[in-house]
Amino acid sequence: MKVTPAMIFISSPTVQGLFHGLQSLKQLIFTSAASQDKGIPVPALKITDYPRFSWRGMHLDVGRYFMSKDSVIRYIDFLALYKFNKFHWHLTEDQGWRIEIRKYPKLTETGAWRKETIIGHLKDTPRVYDGIPHGGYYTQEEIREVVEYAADRFITVIPEIEMPGHAQAAIASYPHLGVTGKPVEVKTEWGISNIIFNPVEETFRFLEDVLEEVLELFPSEFIHIGGDEAKKDQWKASPAVQKQIRELGLKDEDELQSWFIRRIEKFLSERGRRLIGWDEILEGGLAPNATVMSWRGIKGGIEAAEMGHDVVMSPTTHCYLDYYQSDPENEPLAIGGFLPLEKVYSYEPVPEELDAEKAKHILGAQGNVWTEYMKTFRDVEYMAFPRMTAIAEVVWSQPESKDYIDFSNRLKMHVPLFEALDINYSKTGMP
Ligand code: ACM
Repeated sequence: MKVTPAMIFISSPTVQGLFHGLQSLKQLIFTSAASQDKGIPVPALKITDYPRFSWRGMHLDVGRYFMSKDSVIRYIDFLALYKFNKFHWHLTEDQGWRIEIRKYPKLTETGAWRKETIIGHLKDTPRVYDGIPHGGYYTQEEIREVVEYAADRFITVIPEIEMPGHAQAAIASYPHLGVTGKPVEVKTEWGISNIIFNPVEETFRFLEDVLEEVLELFPSEFIHIGGDEAKKDQWKASPAVQKQIRELGLKDEDELQSWFIRRIEKFLSERGRRLIGWDEILEGGLAPNATVMSWRGIKGGIEAAEMGHDVVMSPTTHCYLDYYQSDPENEPLAIGGFLPLEKVYSYEPVPEELDAEKAKHILGAQGNVWTEYMKTFRDVEYMAFPRMTAIAEVVWSQPESKDYIDFSNRLKMHVPLFEALDINYSKTGMP
């Protein structure tokens, strides 16, 4: 980009590059000291720029609280403005199933709704519930609209369909998919559920049917299958599952999860897609072409990259935007943790442990927004801003050009932009 007294000139070998150039221009315009008499001054400058990583991601959990299609569109606008190119849409949870599946209507008739929601923190005693039903889902038409809106802004939407855990809403809709076959409710509180898919043919038929519809809706090469926090208690307690483990010649429940994920990985591979899952998919053996999203620190990411698998880094320590951004005394209730802006900004996605060849497997990084403690999209904005601007720079900039003081000064200039867009940014989270 070149700005001279005579003109503003943006060039790029790709249309995507031009789009990114326009975002820079938009940022410059909004951060300039515009006035009635002088118009909008844009500084004379020359910028040569390109992104460091191919996975510049932001995630949004719509399972814990449903966020309207318009809110999701607004989120995509934010991602586009800060040049993210992946939107990880967490669509299924214990507390709600959010995507219409034509073959299984109960997923949204039953699974998209919970009768009430826990109030306050999960750790509070006694647990108190609001008695207010909550839910919602996206029709396939709405999903197509979001995917297309994102694609027009060079953002790929990666859907996440959770398995074998975080599946309580699916099992509430179709109890035969569970290990016991007994009815369960859509979960009304946070935390990890004991309810897990039964690892049998009928379940695979269901999941493959669901994925067939998902693949129709999402052109993304990567399909996220979750894989995190699958408690194995029901598998341990079930004589049928134990028999299956023995018959398959597997060592334990971790190997059974691995067997489960491998089967889904094969299904996706045969359809030209790539499976991505949380780092628990390493336990019991990683499926052949799987990509790992490392969230419990970076160990899983390092292990996967060492084995030649691609990795997206999203460790809780630097990328979990559901953590407190300043002293909890001054903040709305959050899940816990402490992740101020400066720490987010300091994140280096390529671990020192990896040599140059293995480091190529680090596709990039991603900020995650889990919404247990974010009831509304205004709350999401509060937790995401300003920290997602730090993630944006982590995944875009070369490490040698990063400078927190410089970033802070530039970020402060974005306040008029946040205000013009009516973003509910956190003032306590600002530098
Ligand atoms: C996760 O935060 N359970 C991936």
